[in-house]
Amino acid sequence: MAKELRINSEHLDVDGALLAGYLTRAAAAQQQLYDGSGVGSDYIGWVEWVNTVDQSVVVDILETARDIKRRAKVLLVIGIGGSYLGAKSTLEALLPDFDNEQKIKSGEGLRVYFLGHHISQRYIASLLSHIADEDVFINVISKSGTTTEPAVAFRLVRQFMHNKYGDDYLDRVVATTDSSKGALKRFADANGIKCFVIPDDIGGRYSLFTPVGLLPLAAMDIDIGDLLAGAKAAYTDFKLNDGIDNAAIVYAALRNYLYDRGYKVEILANYNPQLSYLAEWWKQLYGESEGKGGKGILPHAMTFTTDLHSLGQYVQDGERLLFETVLDITAPGEHLAFSDDVDDMDGLNYLAGKPLSEINRTAMLGTILAHSEGGVPNIVIELAELDAHHLGYLYYFFMLSCGISGYMMAVNPFDQPGVENYKNNMYALLGKAGYEHLAEQLNQKIKKLR
Ligand code: PA5
Repeated sequence: MAKELRINSEHLDVDGALLAGYLTRAAAAQQQLYDGSGVGSDYIGWVEWVNTVDQSVVVDILETARDIKRRAKVLLVIGIGGSYLGAKSTLEALLPDFDNEQKIKSGEGLRVYFLGHHISQRYIASLLSHIADEDVFINVISKSGTTTEPAVAFRLVRQFMHNKYGDDYLDRVVATTDSSKGALKRFADANGIKCFVIPDDIGGRYSLFTPVGLLPLAAMDIDIGDLLAGAKAAYTDFKLNDGIDNAAIVYAALRNYLYDRGYKVEILANYNPQLSYLAEWWKQLYGESEGKGGKGILPHAMTFTTDLHSLGQYVQDGERLLFETVLDITAPGEHLAFSDDVDDMDGLNYLAGKPLSEINRTAMLGTILAHSEGGVPNIVIELAELDAHHLGYLYYFFMLSCGISGYMMAVNPFDQPGVENYKNNMYALLGKAGYEHLAEQLNQKIKKLR
């Protein structure tokens, strides 16, 4: 069993003989990812990528990151979905809390802001006014190069940058995109903008270990060598081990076992608020990979103990269609405790001297027991530490297990056809050329609604 990550299934009541069948199917699905015999195999470049990553790309990323840090106080990362969630999740997990506030106070260091992941006028306007007097660098990330949200944000940011730096602003933009296709690539080539390539065979939500995630992370001083080493350790473990010694197989098998028994919603529960964006990354990975053809587990996320005071009632006592996957960081972290109080007015002396991490952990154990008894099966993923190496391991574990799980559900885990529907409607209603016929149909429907 790996030292980084362990699946603890002792709170699950499963039929061992039945589960064995799921483990066998999961192992076969994993093999399909290795030999490329499964559906969507044009997009499984990420399976080997962490093992074969081109060191010259890493060096280029590190040099570009150094240049960004030297010339800017603010990095704007423009992207949506798989083009931003991996970096955002890692930064939330690993940067010191209140990092931006500290840097504003000291006037030192690079701050990062994300945009292009929605079309909120208020957000973008506030952000641009907030950073108006700062030296800025842009990393615009879009594999297709045509996604509306980041493209709109990029337009606005370009205007902002042009007003600030004139034509020289182009030297402060790095694009991460396809090697040859898409509007972003065309724009970058036409304007001599530096580009990093997202490999053809790696889709957005599996692209964290490519320049998509690595450049913003390196710029923010995350050790991308450690992150990649963690992912490679996971790659090696899962390649060498089979059955119950392979956490990716076990997780995929357990999820499918539970899904087939009516547990249609999975809650990724964490007890560390800095992991809430990791949950967003996970939701996108599993939601877009599995939710198709009328199938799929709905990925949901909760931060405990906070959400025990909102959704906890439903989890304990609502409709029984939930199972829970608890992310348990086993390292205690920094020590924080309070001391005895003479009056003990709040009756908390019984906790005096106990580290908060221990109290939090006890809350976790109590919750696991309560939810399990309430009919919510609990899978526990124990991660030994929260650092770049272990996060790299965890991301790769989730990605591989997602591919396996998708194949077990007989879906293509690497496409996202359903995402096109809203886009087409939006294009048509906004008057984009080529969508006239759809616009007519939609306007008829809208008239009927009025
Ligand atoms: O996983 C995916 O492929 C998607 O979520 C994409 O990452 C997202 O739609 C952004 O696409 P793009 O990078 O082409 O702008």
